[in-house]
Amino acid sequence: MSTTRPIRFFHQGAVREVSDAAPTRSVLDWLRDDARCTGTKEGCNEGDCGACTVIVAEPDSGAPGGLRLRNMNACLMFLPTLDGKALLTVEDVSALNSGALHPAQQALVDCHGSQCGFCTPGFVMSLTALYEDHCARGTRPDRQELADALAGNLCRCTGYRPILDAGERMFDGAQQRIEAAPIVAALDQLAASGPLHYAAPNPAFRAADGAPRIDHFHAPRSLDEFAALRAALPAARLLAGATDIGLWVNKQGRDLGNILFIGEVAELKRIEVQNGLLIIGAAASLEDAWRALADQVPGLTEMWRRFASPPVRHAGTLGGNLANGSPIGDGAPVLMALGARLVLRHGEAEREVPLDAFYLDYMKSQLAPGEFIARILVPLPDAGTTLRFWKIAKRYDSDISAVCGAFALRLQDGVVAGARLAYGGLAATVRRAAQAEAALVGQPWTHATVEAAVAALAKDFQPLSDLRASAAYRSRIAGQLLRRLWLETRTEAPLPAATTSVWEHAAATPQEVA
Ligand code: FAD
Ligand code: FES
Ligand code: FES
Repeated sequence: MSTTRPIRFFHQGAVREVSDAAPTRSVLDWLRDDARCTGTKEGCNEGDCGACTVIVAEPDSGAPGGLRLRNMNACLMFLPTLDGKALLTVEDVSALNSGALHPAQQALVDCHGSQCGFCTPGFVMSLTALYEDHCARGTRPDRQELADALAGNLCRCTGYRPILDAGERMFDGAQQRIEAAPIVAALDQLAASGPLHYAAPNPAFRAADGAPRIDHFHAPRSLDEFAALRAALPAARLLAGATDIGLWVNKQGRDLGNILFIGEVAELKRIEVQNGLLIIGAAASLEDAWRALADQVPGLTEMWRRFASPPVRHAGTLGGNLANGSPIGDGAPVLMALGARLVLRHGEAEREVPLDAFYLDYMKSQLAPGEFIARILVPLPDAGTTLRFWKIAKRYDSDISAVCGAFALRLQDGVVAGARLAYGGLAATVRRAAQAEAALVGQPWTHATVEAAVAALAKDFQPLSDLRASAAYRSRIAGQLLRRLWLETRTEAPLPAATTSVWEHAAATPQEVA
């Protein structure tokens, strides 16, 4: 086992070393209680409100200035995951212009984008990340892109119009950029520290002798090292983006024990197209994975925009979404309809499992002890396949699905040659509607066939009622989505999406209203 060392990261112009924080100490708690950087606020402590937004900077030769800046929720980040990175908070943004306000801050003042001010530091960080990105590319976001970029920041006072105005206004004056060079130089030095193996007392849990238990955090950098550690430490909790796990600690006080972090394994973040497959590394961020999926399947753009929010998508991974196995996860229905397979790895051995055979029961999967998802293989759809994906939730942005329906249909001369109908929110796991598929395949693509498939859905799923939706609503909406699929793809007079989408109508009003 490697020797342990402190966590090292760049913060406020210097390399910080931490050796006494529990491995599950959140960046937010460290900032506010240990570093006394109280500009970063705590609201929900579960990734929903954006009050705790910070910017994490990582070396990236493909990014402008060699630095990739991403806004993330400090409440869901464990401190050791900062190792080798730079942490920027609202104090840093204020210091950029030797005391004068940053363009994002000045624009919020000028446009009255802040009233009680509690949300404002979080908005400043999300706006600054957006500002840096567009200044580097010489572009400016339109109002919808601004609204999408701020989907992870809630404000209870302003009604958002002045904040969107500020997001436009901040590009008007002289540019005020974050200087990448000194940060890159510091991170290059930190990279020499080698992979992190961190161990520290966790006062929340006691060892047999009553002393605080010593918990270990391993962050190997090579895939082979990660696989070997995963096999050697099957009881260690595999940590990816912590956007599910973070809530287990913050809200449920769960004991994670020792942690094995997948986030430093560059090979597992790769995304490439090979031999008709889109191959997504399990540790690729949700943002990068959804971008790649939407590049190949443009109909997925809305699912991408509606999956959580940018700070959550910057931290979370697609591997985590699939491994977590939530019955209302959005990644699984989409990838099941696309016929995705998972490459599972244990030590040196790999095996492929079709995603629609991966889940065994509620939050249970085929993953064996010491095994992990290494890659997701997504067959590129051919032109003859009709695809539709719909997320049914109360809010457009940052909401968990009540039902998620994903459909792949192959029609030949008006007859259904193949059908993959996958639903989330209707059973203990995401799964395909086998009975409804059987009612479709081989039949003419007519209203009568669709009605027979809608009736068959009742044999596929007996959904539950919960605070998101009643069982009756879920059953009804599952059928409605099938009918919508037919209305949009029937041979005579197919309906354009604009007429069947409530959001197309809603989208027409934000500009008028805001
Ligand atoms: P983690 O939290 O790090 O891990 C989750 C689980 O997967 C753990 O059990 C972990 O051990 C395991 N794991 C992770 N990677 C692997 C691997 N490679 N192999 C084996 N096991 C692994 N989800 C949705 O589907 N749709 C949404 O709209 C959505 N919105 C959200 C909004 C908010 C505010 C938050 C906080 C979460 C939301 N989520 C949503 C849930 C969550 O963001 C996703 O499930 C995310 O993809 C989890 O990935 P992660 O990397 O953060 O996983
Ligand atoms: Fe609300 Fe972190 S405190 S997102
Ligand atoms: Fe009060 Fe946004 S100004 S919450």
